[in-house]
Amino acid sequence: MKQKKTLLFSNAKSVFSNAYAPYSNFNVSVSLLGINAAIYTGVNVENSAFPQGMCAEAAAIGKMVTDGCTEIDEILVMADTKKPTTPCGGCRQRLMEFSKPYTPVYLCNLEDVLEETTMGLLLPGAFDLNTI
Ligand code: THU
Repeated sequence: MKQKKTLLFSNAKSVFSNAYAPYSNFNVSVSLLGINAAIYTGVNVENSAFPQGMCAEAAAIGKMVTDGCTEIDEILVMADTKKPTTPCGGCRQRLMEFSKPYTPVYLCNLEDVLEETTMGLLLPGAFDLNTI
């Protein structure tokens, strides 16, 4: 794995067990590489009022934006699955807000990168106020 990807991977792995997912028992962690070279992690945070649960992507974006960064260079999503876990539809739009169509997305389990894709492939035809 190249250096940046390795760092994103180890950061996502280090917070994976912090996911608060007592209802689904499905932990997700995310690492975002900001354009400022900082790494922002996030985990899913569920709630007994189910719709109030937050995806890991939203948690990581919240940290990044709070820190004053609004551009993502690379994205890594981690779940304990054999097949790649992809961001949900809503999170694709959330991520695209701060990404480019060519922004790399690494889909991982706890051992490996299972698939490398891009935001444009995950969300073709993204809603974009600037193009309408
Ligand atoms: N989840 C995420 O955190 N990110 C995704 O992209 C997919 C789903 C969480 C939401 C919920 O807490 C659990 O995974 C099961 O859906």
